[in-house]
Amino acid sequence: MTFDIVTIFPRMVEAGLAEGVIGRARASGLLDVTVHDLRDFTSDRHRTVDDVPFGGGPGMVLKPEPLFRAVDAIREARGSVGAVLLMSPAGRRFTQADARRLAGVGHVVILCGRYEGVDERVRDCLATEDVSIGDYVLSGGELPALVVVDAIGRQVPGVVGDEQSVDEDSFTRGLLDHPHYTRPAEFRGHRVPETLLSGHHGEIRRWRRREALRLTLERRPDLMAELPLDEDDQMWVRGLERSRPRDEKKGSE
Ligand code: ADE
Repeated sequence: MTFDIVTIFPRMVEAGLAEGVIGRARASGLLDVTVHDLRDFTSDRHRTVDDVPFGGGPGMVLKPEPLFRAVDAIREARGSVGAVLLMSPAGRRFTQADARRLAGVGHVVILCGRYEGVDERVRDCLATEDVSIGDYVLSGGELPALVVVDAIGRQVPGVVGDEQSVDEDSFTRGLLDHPHYTRPAEFRGHRVPETLLSGHHGEIRRWRRREALRLTLERRPDLMAELPLDEDDQMWVRGLERSRPRDEKKGSE
């Protein structure tokens, strides 16, 4: 899996890619991530990447030429480009399904927006999709780029040591993850649920499924509509819904 990230803060992005799961996957060659300094694709003495907006108004806008040149150079070096993502709070919300889909594409170019905005021709003619990581505004696309590389990178076989843990991540099955506990079995008077200590694998699986359903219903009822539920799930969910206080139910409708 190959990533090319274009930014005016290459050191910030490199720092975020050096450690942990992604750092190890880079070191072992499973992930090939190259960070490009947008200023290397300027053609003036001042290495200018931005300019004032046509029509007036506050702030600066990233110029189109350096970004187009950067993608041209990446295409030349790699032979082709896969998906080209423009990080923007105005983009479509990034989900676990996008992470899986983009891992299948194999090559992802990420353009980090900055300042007040990016020349719209980048969105129209260069990016294949524009991506937001959530409904809040950050100072630029660098942190979102790290989020997206991490989420996609985890989907590449071998990157996370334990494949099963990726399959069981929150959202992978359309549900939030169930709660986890480790030793000690009792901590400051709080005991780990007895089922988890029972050694009965069938019961443990059922407890986890039910707790995942409970958490999803409580915290993300919007996810419930899409969820395939078997008979046992349906019975459990109906029971939960009956026992929820009235005002909580209203929030999810
Ligand atoms: N740039 C600034 N805010 C952003 C967000 N929420 N998602 C993606 N890119 C951004």
